[in-house]
Amino acid sequence: MNRTLRFLLALLAGLAGLTFVGAAVVQKTTRQWFDEDIALRVRLVATGAGSALLQRWTSQDRVSLEQLLSDIARDERIMAAAACGPDATLVAQTPTFPADLTCLHISERMRAAAGHEVKAVGTPWGMVWELPGGDVQVSAVPMARGDQSVGFLVLVHDLSFIERREAKTRKFVILGFGILAVAASLITVVAARLSRRGFRTELRRFILGKSKDKEFLPIVRDVRELVDRIAAEREMDGQGGAWSPQRLKQTLVRHFPGEKVVVLANREPYIHQRQPDGTIKVMHPASGLVTAVEPVLRACSGVWVAHGSGSADRDVVDQNDHIRVPPGEESYDLRRVWLTPDEERGYYYGLANEGLWPLCHLAHARPIFRSEDWATYQAVNRRFADAVCKESSGDDPVVLVQDYHFALAPRFIRERLPRAVIITFWHIPWPNSERFGIFPWRAEILEGLLGSSIVGFHTQLHCNNFVDSVDRYLEARIDREAMAVIQRGRPALVRAYPISLEWPCQWVTSAPPVAECRKSVFAELGLKPDALLGVGVDRLDYTKGIEERMMAVERMLDRHPAYRGRFSFVQLAAPSRSVIERYQQLDEAVEKLTARINAKFGSEGYRPIILLRAHHEPPTVFRYYRAADFCYVSSLHDGMNLVAKEFVAARDDEAGVLLLSQFAGAARELPESLIVNPYNVDEASAAMVRALTMSAEDQCGRMHAMRAFLAEFNVYRWAGRMLMDAARIRRRATVLGHLDDDIMRLASVPRFRPS
Ligand code: G6P
Repeated sequence: MNRTLRFLLALLAGLAGLTFVGAAVVQKTTRQWFDEDIALRVRLVATGAGSALLQRWTSQDRVSLEQLLSDIARDERIMAAAACGPDATLVAQTPTFPADLTCLHISERMRAAAGHEVKAVGTPWGMVWELPGGDVQVSAVPMARGDQSVGFLVLVHDLSFIERREAKTRKFVILGFGILAVAASLITVVAARLSRRGFRTELRRFILGKSKDKEFLPIVRDVRELVDRIAAEREMDGQGGAWSPQRLKQTLVRHFPGEKVVVLANREPYIHQRQPDGTIKVMHPASGLVTAVEPVLRACSGVWVAHGSGSADRDVVDQNDHIRVPPGEESYDLRRVWLTPDEERGYYYGLANEGLWPLCHLAHARPIFRSEDWATYQAVNRRFADAVCKESSGDDPVVLVQDYHFALAPRFIRERLPRAVIITFWHIPWPNSERFGIFPWRAEILEGLLGSSIVGFHTQLHCNNFVDSVDRYLEARIDREAMAVIQRGRPALVRAYPISLEWPCQWVTSAPPVAECRKSVFAELGLKPDALLGVGVDRLDYTKGIEERMMAVERMLDRHPAYRGRFSFVQLAAPSRSVIERYQQLDEAVEKLTARINAKFGSEGYRPIILLRAHHEPPTVFRYYRAADFCYVSSLHDGMNLVAKEFVAARDDEAGVLLLSQFAGAARELPESLIVNPYNVDEASAAMVRALTMSAEDQCGRMHAMRAFLAEFNVYRWAGRMLMDAARIRRRATVLGHLDDDIMRLASVPRFRPS
């Protein structure tokens, strides 16, 4: 063992001892902070909610007192709350209040602790209480109205939260000391070497991890890994709490201070339509992309560049084709780009929806590739890319490019703004490389997308398909470990980011109660109060499996005659891309199938299938979700499918069953749904029966689990993770870029340009 290694080992052993002592000290201090934190929170509750509590307490309004206590117990760290009278009788409590705790017990312990003296009004008292399910911290605050004591408020705190925090703090301390230990060793050795060798050569080798001395390599690698891990953990956990609009905004500001977010998507989030009576109506388009991305821009503000497709869109914009949206909230700009009918035909209907859409979906529609459409697609992508550059105030904006309409735009934007952060998200599946290979301009599409800093898909499978396509059809270096494609020295990351919904969802918080929704929907559809209802919500698109869904309803009624006359399936079908022949065929086929099934099983006043072929605004859609016994999402192939997630979000009553196609990305995230193969009509019809006969407990258990998942994995997290990954790439590129300019001008190292 050489001298350097012996010295390093001794140094590391010393620092390990220090880590141990440090961790113990920090743990003691943090525990003290948490105790103080609890006392402070109790005081805050007693003073903040004091007058509201007292008013309900003394007016004997037990129901609203319980409601207020439940509101207080919504804090993550407060498990339960109760109000006890002056004679230690229970006045009100939250349903979560531990059965083993009584007002009398608490009052006795409080008196004993205070030497039979009751604490002064507003002064909290507390102790750790052993309960069969685990220890809790109980705090009690005497309350009085004027001079008159009304009893005491009890708050029960979740100690497991403190333990979790302590464990996390311990982990960070140990990691922190670990880094310190490694860094100290490293600096010592580097300093020793620098004194022996040329400063520049050694620093360059060290930073690039190219030192010839073997003892450096694991240390450098470890430091990198530790720093990356700590940074990632701090972002994902350390900042704490659920992803929310505020947290997303903070992430943006922290990583990209002063930079503007520009969304590029073909579909606009608000469409102004002229009505027959001359008035203008604002419509929300039926688009999963819009559902997901709109809350992100509302949180981050910035500008959304889109095709202005509404009949009154031009009438409401300013001279720069801008309008502030959402109406009434005005938190960001919508910039409309106008297309001629020829441009719309070639770019949107032609290349995007007759070419790329059927190419990427395994749904048995033959893709049509026309070179005229390709020329228009290129030209329109360039126009939109120009509009994005014009909307970007600086030279390094954050651009979020959406979907298959804009596969070329990332490269066009990169050419004009080399320092931009371009995050491109492909909302639909990416086919395997063999299938993708039939696309006549496959290399151009791949080159276009690789102008991005990150190319995102919903699933890892689609990432793999994309990287395989690059491997097969382009000259590029692929780093499969980092899932990056490197072209001309610039990397583009390829990552899976499953998209989601805002949480809580605005349409749920504003919806009427479930019972009211059921009543109004049943009345609209002419259903008897004891009827059973399934719902489907889609654009009329051949990838959604609408015919297969109706055949499953037919099979169910064939096999289970008891449901005839009682069960109906309502399909909300938004007309879509109706200029295209394949969509017209689908429209006709769905109508014919509905008529046939209704003729077979229908009777006076009973339709097994109710087809509502029209655009429905979100408040109506959510009323239908809330009214139904089950929702069936039967996509033949789908990137994610947000209808599935919307149905779960809509059911805050934790009732209802989701039937979900195994070919939708959502099936990987919502395994508590009934997963079916939509092509297997027998299986799907059996799942419908299972949904209609499922116990309330089973429904509740499944819904509860799916809702908890969506609350955590919401769309703010989706966007936040992409931004954080983009920030990491930029940080690394910047470090290497500076060194490049400053120290290593002459060194022949791979050059990573800032992206
Ligand atoms: C899919 C696409 C979106 C599109 C939506 C609605 O979800 O991925 O990009 O906006 O369908 O289609 P439309 O053609 O009406 O925009």
